[in-house]
Formats: sequence, structure tokens, C-alpha cells
Amino acid sequence: MMFTARDRLKLLAGAGLAALAACGGGGGGSSRRVNPAPPPPPSPSGPGQKVLRDVYAGKFAVGAAIGTAQLEASSRDRDILLSQFSSLTAENVMKPATLAPSRGQYDFAAADAIVDFAQANGMQVRGHTLLWHRQTPDWFFGGDTAEVRARLEDYVTLVVSRYRGKVSAWDVVNEVASDDAGARAPYRDSNWYRAVGGPDFIEWAFRAARAADPDAKLFINDYNTEYPDKRDRLLQIVQDLLAKGVPIDGVGHQLHMDVGNTAEQALDAVRAVDSLGAGLINHVTELDISVYDDPPSCFFGGENCEPDVGIPMPAEIARKQSQLYRDLFDGFAGLASLQSVTFWGVSDAQTWLNTFPAVRRDHPLLYDRQRQAKSAFHAVTDPAYVIS
Ligand code: XIL
Repeated sequence: MMFTARDRLKLLAGAGLAALAACGGGGGGSSRRVNPAPPPPPSPSGPGQKVLRDVYAGKFAVGAAIGTAQLEASSRDRDILLSQFSSLTAENVMKPATLAPSRGQYDFAAADAIVDFAQANGMQVRGHTLLWHRQTPDWFFGGDTAEVRARLEDYVTLVVSRYRGKVSAWDVVNEVASDDAGARAPYRDSNWYRAVGGPDFIEWAFRAARAADPDAKLFINDYNTEYPDKRDRLLQIVQDLLAKGVPIDGVGHQLHMDVGNTAEQALDAVRAVDSLGAGLINHVTELDISVYDDPPSCFFGGENCEPDVGIPMPAEIARKQSQLYRDLFDGFAGLASLQSVTFWGVSDAQTWLNTFPAVRRDHPLLYDRQRQAKSAFHAVTDPAYVIS
């Protein structure tokens, strides 16, 4: 399949995504919201404002990636979460580096706090992520194939069992597809692939997860599914898993987009999964829309990154972003297999894009740094709102 200069750029950006992930951690959600125990507080952005989760109720859950700081009583994000969202993902603290930092040592405190908060407030949790080539300590990879397999299966069993009935969807494997047609395509040449000498670890992780919680929905999650060549490789892996009878329920589309993208690119990703005819669910797992469209040299070595646009976000960029968010959500609402849409963060004050691929102010989410709803929020919640 041909790809454009822009696709190429995004592929390289994807490689940058992978390269960055050495530092941090979070999680996400899937179906219908149950009534929260305590009534949510009024929206922090004023009366008359629409409620995001209600606008899309019956279509898909709306989630946000968070850390424990956002659960504190003093956190302004907490009020937004309670009033607007129906699903949570741990941005970092359910990754192996946090849960199992060294052999025999586990730390579930932060993950438990997020799951407990979600339970207390009638929110779903998307578990992110059981297996990744980043944020996974070296102790997972030593020894022969049998040892690596036993360790992986024990880890998946332990974590999924702990949150059985509380985590409704798991990103069982994250970013296992390759970015190019290299020797191991469609699989990423990763620490996992090398430790096992092939891709069987993917199947082992899914089977262990299903055994530990038969009701949790199990996902393969990846980035750049809005680009046909990467998507084709991911779907090749999915079809292979299905052919082997591996228990997989859905595909997670990260959708780290930018203002130069179109909604159709993302909608096509969901439709491509539908057209496999396997009845798979789709989740959007890490949505954000960067205001920067950087050249590859920015992702590899930090050169020629677009200059900081500053604060506030320039009006023309805000218009473009709002329109893209509106087009995306209009399209999402028409996709029956799409059951969850998670933003990778709550407000522009705290987004990984403020430090990746360069340190500068980005504005990728629906709330600004003061936690005020941006025009993008109104664009996706109010059809009568005029983007200007
Ligand atoms: C990112 C977090 O947002 C950062 O805080 C951390 O330093 C690195 O990981 N794809 C994923 C996410 O699946 O887990 C990554 O999250 C972003 C890219």
C-alpha cells in the first residue's frame, strides 16, 4: 500500500512514541454507565453546560486517563471526572513498571485507588496495560522461553484476578504491531519478541487474561491505526489470533492525532475492524489532538520541532481542533461497534504532549489549563454551538 509523506511522518512519530515511553503510567473503560453512588457535583465550567457522558450515553462510554493526584479532594480534575466522565484509565500506574517493579515485589496501591474511586462513582475502568515493550522491568525477560512464559502468565493471572469484575476491559497487549515492513512484520521487533523467539507471547497473555476474568473484554491496543499500512499489519495479527481461537474481543485505537488529521482517517480505522466480520468491539483508547505537526527530525533528536504556540492557544488552531473533534464525535456516534472513547488526560495542564516530543505548551484536550471547557468541548457536546 502506498503512503504519503504525511503518513511517513506519522509512522516516524509513532516510533518516537515508542521511544519516549520510558517514563510514566495510566488506564481506560468500555460500556454502559451505572448510576453513581453519590450525586456528582455541578460542572466546574458553569451552569447550562452539557454533560459529555450524557450526550453519548447509549452509544459509548467517555473516559479519561489519570493518575492518583487527580483523585485528591483538592484536585479540580476530580470534579471534572465526576461530572463529565463514565470511564477511567490509569495513565501509568497499572503498567508493569508500577505494579511489579522487581521480582517478587508488587505495588497495587495506586491502581487500587483508581479502581476504588471508579467503583464508588459508578465508572468503568479500562486496564492499561498487561504487556508492553516499554515501562516493563527487565526481570520479566530473563531465562529461557518456558520461564518467560510462566512469568508472564503468572503476572497476567495475578493482576487480572485482582480486578476481576472491576476492570471491564483490558489492553492485554500494547503496540505489538511493527511500524514498517521489517523482517519480523507484522510483529514489532521487541524485547518480548526476542525473549520468546516469536510472537507466541501475545496468545499466552490473552489466554491467561480470559481464564482470570471471563467477563472482561480483551483488547489489542495500538497507535497509528488511522494509517492504512500500520492498520493492515495490526489486523493481520488480529486475524491470526482469531484463526487460532485466541480469546480477543476488540481493537483499541490510541488515536494520538494532530490538527492536520481528518476524522475520516480515524473512522476508517474502526470500519476496517468491522469489515473483518468477526464481531469485534472497537475502543478509542488514548485520544488527543496535538496542535503541532512536527517533522521526523523532531522525534529523532529534537530538531526542527514546531515552535511553542504559547498560551492561550491561537484562535485559528482552536477552530481547527474544535472542528476535528466535532467531526470525530459525529462520526463516532454513528459507529455501532465503538463502545468507549477515552481521552489521554483531562486538561491541557497535564498532558504527556507538554513534554513529548518536545518541551513546549500543547493544547490537545477539551479543558484548558484553568480547567475551563474549551471550544472543543462545546463542539462535541452541543450541536448548536457555532465554532468561530
Ligand atoms: C505515556 C504516558 O502518558 C506518559 O506519562 C509516560 O511517561 C509514557 O507513557 N501509548 C501508550 C501510553 O499506550 O501508555 C503512553 O502513555 C502514550 C503512548
